[in-house]
Amino acid sequence: MTESISSGKFITVEGIDGCGKTTQAEFIIDGLVEAGLSAKLVREPGGDPISESIRKLLLHAEESMSDRAEALLMIASRAQLTDKVILPQIIDGKWVVADRYADSTLAYQGGGRGLSVNSLDMINEFGTYTLKPDLTFFIDISVDIANSRMRVERDRIEKEGNDFQQRVRDQYLKLSEKDSDRVVVINGDKSIDEIKADIWTHMKEKFKI
Ligand code: ADP
Ligand code: TYD
Repeated sequence: MTESISSGKFITVEGIDGCGKTTQAEFIIDGLVEAGLSAKLVREPGGDPISESIRKLLLHAEESMSDRAEALLMIASRAQLTDKVILPQIIDGKWVVADRYADSTLAYQGGGRGLSVNSLDMINEFGTYTLKPDLTFFIDISVDIANSRMRVERDRIEKEGNDFQQRVRDQYLKLSEKDSDRVVVINGDKSIDEIKADIWTHMKEKFKI
């Protein structure tokens, strides 16, 4: 379905660690700016001073963190970012590209940690002020290829290992089947340039940029 580009839009990029999200999120911003649109890149968890403080706690806490505390902190960081950064931009007619958003919690805390996806969906609804992305790119890649691309130094969640990452990937695949109008699955095995071109084809089709 084609949508008008005159109002602000919200695009998210999702996938397991090392799939190439950050690389492609930056390209989407470049493409939007080249098309004469005002666009801002944000990352989760983080993207605002309070959210960045929560990020430090989430990724570098040395004590054992309860799975539910982890989920609530992810969503607390999201609420802050949504209220203070994302919604004001969109209301102002600008575009926002997010390197991770609500689907990450469903995939990591739901698929990875085994928490109830229905409960997480409800808390996400509250934490996002019911904001939904206009379009989501899920960059799908095998755990082995993702591992080969990841830097050696790993944060608390990246250290969870291959079985955890596989459950996260499986949950992303389920979500993309369930919400196929919003979520586009992109083959992450391709080269950076091929993926960039695939994503831009979908952007043009959806938004007539
Ligand atoms: P993420 O944000 O998903 O963790 P990044 O975009 O930071 O992933 O990419 C992780 C590493 O893999 C970076 O060194 C990046 O240059 C490289 N990379 C990204 N996409 C590809 C690709 N399609 N093929 C090969 N290397 C890639
Ligand atoms: P990310 O910023 O993608 O890591 P990096 O910059 O090292 O590539 O994400 C940080 C970690 O947080 C990543 O392992 C995924 C995890 N995460 C969740 O578990 N749940 C969430 O809701 C979000 C947003 C991230």
